[in-house]
Amino acid sequence: MTTSPRWLRTAPGRTPRIEYGADYNPEQWPRDVWDDDVRAMRTAGVTIVSLAIFSWGRLEPAEGEYDFGWLDEVMDLLHAGGIAVDLATATASPPPWLTAKHPEILPVDHEGRTIWPGSRQHWRPTSPAFREHALRLVRQMAGRYGDHPALAAWHVSNELGCHNAYDYSDDAAAAFRVWLRRRYGELAALNAAWGTAFWSQHYSDWSQILPPRRAATHPNPTQQLDFTRFSSDALKDYLCAERDVLRELTPDVPVTTNFMIMGRLRPLDYADWAAEVDFVANDHYVQRTSRPFDELSFSANLTGNVAGGRPWFLMEHSTSAVNWQPINVPKKPGELERDSLTHVAHGADAVCFFQWRQSRAGAEKYHSAMVPHAGEDSAVFRRVTELGETLRRLAPVAGAGRTPARAAVLVDWDSAWAAELDSHPTNRLRYQQEALDWYSAFLDLGVRADVVPVRTGLSRYDLVVAPILYVVPEALRRRLEAYVRGGGHLVTTYFSGNVDEHDHLWPGAHPGALRDLLGIRIEEFAPLPDGDQVVLDNGSVGTLWTDMMEVADAGVEVLARYADGSPAVTRKAYTAGSAAYVSTRLGPDGLAPLLGDLLRRAGVESELPPGLRGRVELVVRGDFRFYVNRTDEPVDLTGVPGEALHGSAERLEPRGVGVLRGPA
Ligand code: GAL
Repeated sequence: MTTSPRWLRTAPGRTPRIEYGADYNPEQWPRDVWDDDVRAMRTAGVTIVSLAIFSWGRLEPAEGEYDFGWLDEVMDLLHAGGIAVDLATATASPPPWLTAKHPEILPVDHEGRTIWPGSRQHWRPTSPAFREHALRLVRQMAGRYGDHPALAAWHVSNELGCHNAYDYSDDAAAAFRVWLRRRYGELAALNAAWGTAFWSQHYSDWSQILPPRRAATHPNPTQQLDFTRFSSDALKDYLCAERDVLRELTPDVPVTTNFMIMGRLRPLDYADWAAEVDFVANDHYVQRTSRPFDELSFSANLTGNVAGGRPWFLMEHSTSAVNWQPINVPKKPGELERDSLTHVAHGADAVCFFQWRQSRAGAEKYHSAMVPHAGEDSAVFRRVTELGETLRRLAPVAGAGRTPARAAVLVDWDSAWAAELDSHPTNRLRYQQEALDWYSAFLDLGVRADVVPVRTGLSRYDLVVAPILYVVPEALRRRLEAYVRGGGHLVTTYFSGNVDEHDHLWPGAHPGALRDLLGIRIEEFAPLPDGDQVVLDNGSVGTLWTDMMEVADAGVEVLARYADGSPAVTRKAYTAGSAAYVSTRLGPDGLAPLLGDLLRRAGVESELPPGLRGRVELVVRGDFRFYVNRTDEPVDLTGVPGEALHGSAERLEPRGVGVLRGPA
């Protein structure tokens, strides 16, 4: 497979490679540092930088007055140094003259408080004034740099929605009403969908509808869910507005923006956004949770599948510590390379950091960079330079698509949003954590699994885990049923199948939409108080949730029971497929043996030799197999087939990665 034409714009005939670089903020530095930057970038093996992300104030210091001279010079310098540019549209952080003149572009939170300037991203996606000024700048940028030979891609804004995902302003209210009219057509349909017979919420005119602002108690759940959907769409619409200007003026330059697939699923439905960019780009920062590496792999995996299996661009991660967690711990030796190569394993054809040179001033001066405060004579810079060399050696991997696994974990933004709304059986439920626990169980068993958006075709998978699949509209219900009847093995969990797309309960006993498919009947949910746990008869321990469930079909086998003998885990067998249900939170340690059993029954085996299972993550891109050491100990690879393209074919260093080429 060759690199997609909608990858970076490069000189004709250039051989594919893994791009390497960072956000570059030269405006923070005196002119004489720039030459040194380009020299050191070449030392490090940098091939591309993202430029002008926060440069609006420097590029347009007063309304309609542009100062492009300095950026012209930086672009030329980089080009002369052989470094390509992912050029931002520079609209991420509006300058003070704009917010002073148009304070109505500032977002408003759900309590009616203004988000003031003084930081960044203080703008409403629905503000006509913001859009007018931002798109004017985009036109200027496209006109000035569209033909520049350094320009490889456009970078729309930056991390759309990082700080401004939800805006409850009057502009947002007006745009929300337009969005709702499009969705429902008639007010009667909205009233029905929102269940406004409840608490006297009936609307008799569209103008009465507001975003779910701070209310006396729980706001209408469907209003909240629709507002979340709308907020994702509002930012997507803004992305498309910038993109359309760029496509009009520079049709041959690909357009991207950096997604934030990391940690708890963000308010933006990236599976829906992916079609709007020429290639997917993502930012990922390691979350200091109990299994940070699993989360990184999960996010990289999901990004690769949001990108449809095609190569994607890791736009930001960190060389070492960040500055925005409560305690910012530096990376251990090996982690910089392992984190980077795990992204490459899951399809990244570009590895970039925030940022090139560590700042001396501003809120990010304690955030690590490729060139730290200590300069080039530092462990971080040496690791950075080694990584540059490694990525050069990995050039043959560039362009190879992800090789699908036989199992998958489904991710559904609608369910993530709706399941965590208030006024539920428990407010402790965490959608992404449950999904991640299953993924960890796959990693512990050494079985490859794809993390895929719910809209992905399921038929290629032998086993699909759909954790907390709370929102199941009729079409999805039918798809899941067809999957199981067609021989697929579906596994789902507590708080799945309960509601339709309007967050209305399916009629009858739970879990409504999936009740018949699973062959179970739940009369009441029985979430567990903090600290409580239940021991199942297979020895595993449940927390968070239990169901008062009974078997409703003779074809159902009970795989585990609660102490009172009631079913905890069930599996209904079909002619070839099956539908299993897990009614409590087992965590990775409890899930692994259960998943092992379900995989065996589905005929899915680990592709790793027994000694490597759990210790090593295997990821496959065409002819290339990535072996990622999940442990802090060396791992013996002897007997694993293939020639080493990176690392040794015999041994993985602690936290090391080996890339082997050749048939499995
Ligand atoms: C990202 C952002 C960067 C930088 C980085 C620090 O959210 O895009 O500009 O702030 O975080 O980790």
